[in-house]
Amino acid sequence: MRDFSGAVALVTGGGGGIGAAEVRLLTERGATVCAVDIDEDAALGSGAALAIGADVADREAMAEAVDRVVTQFGRLDLVFCTAGITHRPATLRVLEPGTAQRVIDVNLVGTLNTLEPAIDPLIASRGHAVLVSSMGWPPNSEFGTLLPTLGGVAYSTSKVAVEMLGRGLRIELSPYGVGVTIAYFGPVDTAMVRLTNVPPTRSSERLRISPEKAAAGVIRAVEREKVRVIIPGRWNFLNVVRPLGVHLDNLLLRSRKQRDFIRTYDSA
Ligand SMILES: NC(=O)c1ccc[n+]([C@@H]2O[C@H](COP(=O)([O-])OP(=O)(O)OC[C@H]3O[C@@H](n4cnc5c(N)ncnc54)[C@H](O)[C@@H]3O)[C@@H](O)[C@H]2O)c1
Repeated sequence: MRDFSGAVALVTGGGGGIGAAEVRLLTERGATVCAVDIDEDAALGSGAALAIGADVADREAMAEAVDRVVTQFGRLDLVFCTAGITHRPATLRVLEPGTAQRVIDVNLVGTLNTLEPAIDPLIASRGHAVLVSSMGWPPNSEFGTLLPTLGGVAYSTSKVAVEMLGRGLRIELSPYGVGVTIAYFGPVDTAMVRLTNVPPTRSSERLRISPEKAAAGVIRAVEREKVRVIIPGRWNFLNVVRPLGVHLDNLLLRSRKQRDFIRTYDSA
């Protein structure tokens, strides 16, 4: 079991939502935490020992942030790549140019930018990295995730790529004793879900869990050195149907409700 007491952690997206809850819980468990957030005031308000305003999509800024943590605290044991964005549901056809690319830049390139400079410090401490994928995104949450996200294909693309980044890094870093956890959240009650869950349905609202519960789940997984964690566990069964791939997509094509969503998002 991994012990957080005395550990030094860096949490991206630490100013809000799940990242802010991770900062709080890790601090409570005795870690010294650095919160990195594009919203510097939010990072400052997180209660972290160190707050850094930085955009994860900015490679140099992230290298500087990692360097600052190691210089100030002498080590880096845990990296939580939690920063992520999406946009209001819309098809690629109608989305403002640059929006889809920004989603990939923050969610995928941002995770890479956070981890690459952290590799040597993590090796030095035999530390642990957390990458955040996704179990899905309302309104198609009733199908789980394993489908292209309606109105957000760049988002689901980024999250599938993050998963592969985590799997590859786990293999590369395992000889050095560095652990990797890939976290797949279902709907969590944060600003992100409120932006995307339109129109909200009673069932999609009921399925949301709190950011604290999401953060506690991922921290428990790191403690137990789990490679993969689906939070909440009720979505575990979706992994069983995952190999169906495009056959699952056909379910979307056949569903009138989903077709209605696509029509709405195509005129957004
Ligand atoms: N909320 C959900 O239902 C849900 C489900 C699955 C996965 N996720 C993933 O969990 C992670 C956290 O999501 P959340 O719901 O807490 O989101 P959120 O919007 O509530 O919080 C995200 C935080 O990241 C910060 N941030 C955004 N862009 C940034 C950037 N470029 N650089 C640095 N910081 C940046 C924001 O300022 C904010 O504080 C994301 O990776 C998201 O994709 C969320």
